[in-house]
Amino acid sequence: MFPIVHTRQLSDAVFEMGVLAPAIAAKVKAGQFLILRVAEGGERIPLTFSDWSAEDDWIRFIFMRVGKTTHQLSHMGVGDSLADVVGPLGVPTHTEGVGRVAVVGGGVGAAVAYPVARAMCEAGAEVTVILGARNKDLLILEDEFRALPLKDLVITTDDGSAGRKDLVTAPLKELCEAGALDHAMAIGPAIMMKFCAATTRDFGVPTTVSLNPIMVDGTGMCGACRVSVGGETKFGCVDGPDFDGHAVDFEELMSRQRVYVEEERLSDAEYHLECSCHT
Ligand SMILES: Cc1cc2nc3c(=O)[nH]c(=O)nc-3n(C[C@H](O)[C@H](O)[C@H](O)COP(=O)(O)OP(=O)(O)OC[C@H]3O[C@@H](n4cnc5c(N)ncnc54)[C@H](O)[C@@H]3O)c2cc1C
Ligand code: FES
Repeated sequence: MFPIVHTRQLSDAVFEMGVLAPAIAAKVKAGQFLILRVAEGGERIPLTFSDWSAEDDWIRFIFMRVGKTTHQLSHMGVGDSLADVVGPLGVPTHTEGVGRVAVVGGGVGAAVAYPVARAMCEAGAEVTVILGARNKDLLILEDEFRALPLKDLVITTDDGSAGRKDLVTAPLKELCEAGALDHAMAIGPAIMMKFCAATTRDFGVPTTVSLNPIMVDGTGMCGACRVSVGGETKFGCVDGPDFDGHAVDFEELMSRQRVYVEEERLSDAEYHLECSCHT
């Protein structure tokens, strides 16, 4: 069992949780993920490490409440325990020698962008973070990003309620046009990563994306997370989650992400009948 030692609600549907997991905390690197089960017999869901402390034995992750399991998780608190947590999984993000880099975090992707930007700063990179959200209430971790030694932090919202009224691709394009980037990293919804990669491609700026295909075992055995990169089949869980954004087949990724939509809708609807909060 993995005791929950920290919870924080970051926005209406986004939550941070910390659990005691000494063996995992000792090994995590930026960009890696875990797979957890809330209870015995429950669904296994992948979430990315947002922070950790090897000294104090804890790991943290940030999740958006989108379906049954994340809803169950949002009702758990300090004193409860998770049935299991497996990790760290996946290949760590390449953070050494990236030079002048833009790290783009869209929505809950900011949770993954934070440890990546921090690791790049620690490795001596010149890091500009571009944080995007639909509106001000959905922006997360702004204070944490401001505490990093960034070159710049640019905030965009679709409705202009915070920062620039723009999509993240607008400031990204400006940096490319100014010749100010050696590298870009985009983390967020597949559609956002697709357009970030399309933006940088014209300028020849190498771009890494952190993919989130459906995952089941997380060990390269089941094939659920397969993605096409440069015409080759790769497994998101063991070859990724980071890939060359200019080579990823995003249409296939988005289509495979929707494979279980009907089952997910039914499972969520059933759970709403059981759950007292009805949110
Ligand atoms: C490597 C990786 C890292 C991720 N990191 C984060 C994170 O840090 N924070 C966060 O909020 N979300 C993250 N996700 C997405 C997260 O796993 C899903 O939101 C979660 O599984 C939804 O489960 P659910 O039962 O609440 O919702 P469901 O109703 O079951 O699903 C809602 C949507 O979530 C996605 N999803 C569902 N099951 C899985 C699965 N087994 N694997 C991948 N995606 C799934 C699908 O797109 C689905 O349409 C990550 C996904 C991957 C693959
Ligand atoms: S999740 Fe099964 S092979 Fe990647």
